[in-house]
Amino acid sequence: MSAKPRGHRRILVTSALPYSNGPIHLGHLFENIQTDIWVRFQRLVGNHCTYVCAEDAHGTATMLKAEEEGMTPEEWGESMRASHAADFAGFHIAHDNFYSTHSDENRHYSELIFGRLQEKGHIFTEEVEQLYDPEQGLFLADRHVRGGCPRCGAADQPGDNCDACGATYDATELSEPRSVLSGTAPILKASLHYFVDLAKSEEYLKSWTRSGTVQPEVANKLAEWLDEGLKPWDVSRDAPYFGFEIPGAQGKYFYVWMDAPIGYMASFKDYCTRSGLEFDEFWRPDSDCEVHHFIGKDIINFHALFWPAVLAGADFRTPTRVHTHGFITVGGARMSKSRGTFINASTYLEHLDPEYLRYYFATKLSPNTDDIDINFDDFVQRVNSDLVGKIVNIASRCAGFLHRHFDSMLAPTLHDRRLWQEVSGARERLGGLYDAGDVSRAVREITSLADMANRYIDDHAPWRLIKEPDRASDVQDICSMGINLFRAMALYLKPILPGFAERTEAFLDVAPMTWEDAAQPLVDHRIGRFRPLIRRIDRKAVDRVVEASKEQEPAPKESKAEQALIGIDDFAKVDLRVARIVEALPVKGADRLLKLTLDVGDHRREVFSGIKEAYDPESLVGRHAIVVANLAPRRMRFGTSEGMVLAAGPGGSEIFLVTPDDGAIPGMEVR
Ligand code: 2FM
Ligand code: ZN
Repeated sequence: MSAKPRGHRRILVTSALPYSNGPIHLGHLFENIQTDIWVRFQRLVGNHCTYVCAEDAHGTATMLKAEEEGMTPEEWGESMRASHAADFAGFHIAHDNFYSTHSDENRHYSELIFGRLQEKGHIFTEEVEQLYDPEQGLFLADRHVRGGCPRCGAADQPGDNCDACGATYDATELSEPRSVLSGTAPILKASLHYFVDLAKSEEYLKSWTRSGTVQPEVANKLAEWLDEGLKPWDVSRDAPYFGFEIPGAQGKYFYVWMDAPIGYMASFKDYCTRSGLEFDEFWRPDSDCEVHHFIGKDIINFHALFWPAVLAGADFRTPTRVHTHGFITVGGARMSKSRGTFINASTYLEHLDPEYLRYYFATKLSPNTDDIDINFDDFVQRVNSDLVGKIVNIASRCAGFLHRHFDSMLAPTLHDRRLWQEVSGARERLGGLYDAGDVSRAVREITSLADMANRYIDDHAPWRLIKEPDRASDVQDICSMGINLFRAMALYLKPILPGFAERTEAFLDVAPMTWEDAAQPLVDHRIGRFRPLIRRIDRKAVDRVVEASKEQEPAPKESKAEQALIGIDDFAKVDLRVARIVEALPVKGADRLLKLTLDVGDHRREVFSGIKEAYDPESLVGRHAIVVANLAPRRMRFGTSEGMVLAAGPGGSEIFLVTPDDGAIPGMEVR
């Protein structure tokens, strides 16, 4: 992969930046564990390897999600960043930096790159007509519009493709379109957009994509797109938008996908200020450092077409390699909330050791882009039979004899040099497999080395020899040999199982192991006390994870057109009551929310309400309001909201509490 000898490579590695609008789940974990194994291997062989990631904080989705939670997008993005960073740390993912795309560094590089592209004539502007929600004051992304399929007529289809007949189309072609944000009919509205003229980079990309930068099947897919000709890429969005305003273009923002990959650079730049690394050494066009991106196959176009085009156009180096993986399925199907197979990192960590998943994913990692199927029985079997039963077992079979009979000392020489040569010599081949991303094969080979080690112990049966007075001293040789084989195995697994490797180092009483330690056996050395290095999985804990991940799938949505009109029976279901505001308090970390304590006649309840910008909390105490009393309680980040207070107006400081006239009493039904 690199002409440089091992130990001399300087490498920057990234995993795709997770969006701020959802939790870390198995899919993110697969990619970050894959990347982390590669990074740890590079470090183990002595290469200088920096691994950065960040929160992908921008875009309409973050803006809407923050609004729903009563926070500013900055606050929301930061809270998600912190929770995502904690989830990754829980799985031993060794990011050197987990930053945010909403950073000064990212603004700087986004502006710089865009400015250079402009200077070199890669940017042009054009009026675009798009669907616009007049009620929300927002241009609508495809996923925010639904309507009738222009091909088969099926009602309530998404804005880009039809679930019924598979047709792909433009949201403007839908019949009777509705905004999913407000339910209103969107209008067509024109606005000026900024485009990157990708056609200018086609020739460059044709050679870049065929120069060992991507896997062969990815290069073939890219070639199809390149042969069709690249369309201009729309990189601006209109206000309101959470992102960076484009310099000199008021009310226009960089599209989230424009500044997201630049976020890799920004996270690295921030790390440079702390680590003393030189940003330019990695990013100048003639850099001899390497840049590797790990991504899923859904975002190949962004990383292997747009990103190199943008970098080359702005006089930065392009990636050394984009490593693409397939999608995760569970039991052959897409992850599903109702089946409990949409598993979040935090749910997993409440019940299971992260290293089980790291090991299991390692058995699935290949250099190709095939989908990866997870099967819970297979998960338990691989960990319990292979990892614990075959590998860890070697140590437990040998350590006891050494502790009890030989003062924990390893013999001064090796008992079976040929076997040792075989296991020690495997490091070259295994190193090649790790470097090429063929981790599943590396694990298979390590497991067969473990089979050899177990056969060796079985053949020499130390438990029998120890009972024969004249053979007892052989037991030290045999068990020392076993411990040496185990040590090599733990070292070979160190990129996958860093916690297990650390416990092994403590048990063997050795310094942190590096790859070349497999060249030399450990002899005439006193080992530490044996303790369980990794336990078997309890199948019931896996079931608990699945159970805890089950969510009711929302009932199929009625079309917005059907929702627009409700009958009197529906209206009668809404229990509106007069309430008196007893207490109104600001909510720490949420600029728009107030926590209201309401007297509803026979009881009190707490409601979170996004009216802080319009009202001074104290001025609300004692006033009456109307509350939806039978709204299902909603868990928010700050507590549970037990209802909703009615208010009118577009939001922000223009919001007006709906209040009854004097004489209304708390608890009275509104009719
Ligand atoms: O697909 C995603 O989840 C994006 N948030 C990935 C961004 S990767 C990069 F370009 F920043
Ligand atoms: Zn259709």
